[in-house]
Amino acid sequence: KQALNIVKMKKYKQDGVPLSMITAYDYPTALLAEEAGIDLILVGDSLGNVVLGYDSTLPVTIDDMVYHTRSVVRGAGNTFIVADMPFMTYHGSVDETLKGVRRLMQEGHAHAVKMEGGVEIADTVKAVVQAGVPVLGHIGLTPQSVNQIGGYRIQGKDAADARRLMDEAKALEAAGAFGIVLELVTEEVARAISEELSIPTIGIGAGRGCDGQVLVFHDVVQYASPYMPKRFVKTYGDVGTLIRSSIEAYVKEVKDRSFPAQEHVFTAADGVVEQLYG
Ligand code: KIV
Ligand code: NA
Repeated sequence: KQALNIVKMKKYKQDGVPLSMITAYDYPTALLAEEAGIDLILVGDSLGNVVLGYDSTLPVTIDDMVYHTRSVVRGAGNTFIVADMPFMTYHGSVDETLKGVRRLMQEGHAHAVKMEGGVEIADTVKAVVQAGVPVLGHIGLTPQSVNQIGGYRIQGKDAADARRLMDEAKALEAAGAFGIVLELVTEEVARAISEELSIPTIGIGAGRGCDGQVLVFHDVVQYASPYMPKRFVKTYGDVGTLIRSSIEAYVKEVKDRSFPAQEHVFTAADGVVEQLYG
């Protein structure tokens, strides 16, 4: 399998082929996502919620993102990997922004970065693109601004808001973004934006008119995801239940001494154990 690139992504859009994207934060998940044939992986700052246990994405740092991006890249060497720029790392000087971008690309080995915002970050997006780094935009409900938005609410519900979202999308395309995530946007508005732009839109809670879809891994497989939004997520499995019951069974067998059993035990007759770790 050959990794997708931003030129092919645009071609997917022209050909009407939807893009599939899922988040991953570590090596095993990335490995499985690549084996499953995902088009793009997002190392999202949802890391803060679903992996680090914070109640928002705000505490996530560049260090956190670099560490997790590196492990994802090691697991999915043939997949296009986008890393989120965390809260407060791209609203200062261009120099400061580029330092963070450099770390995600050069230390994290991401292929692209994602930033939340529209018109107000268009110049920043342009500077990053000019540095040779593909940028994925992200508008609609932007979780890093949750304290300003006043909650996780649907975007684009009235005509003025719809117009604002369209303007933001156009500003990002003009700034050189290779695609835009639309989060919690009404289906009509997301469809209109997708039809207007030549770059692909990737929706989450943004309906059926987008050029691709993204979901959070922990929601897709129900891996202890307490922040799982109810309506727009579809779950395709329940590994949380599987993991809990597996650990329960292990605990029980330790307690009743049925583990370890005969076949798990070494005696003096056993030789080297290296094949156990091969
Ligand atoms: O961090 C994340 O998981 C995201 C997606 C929800 C798009 O930004
Ligand atoms: Na994010």
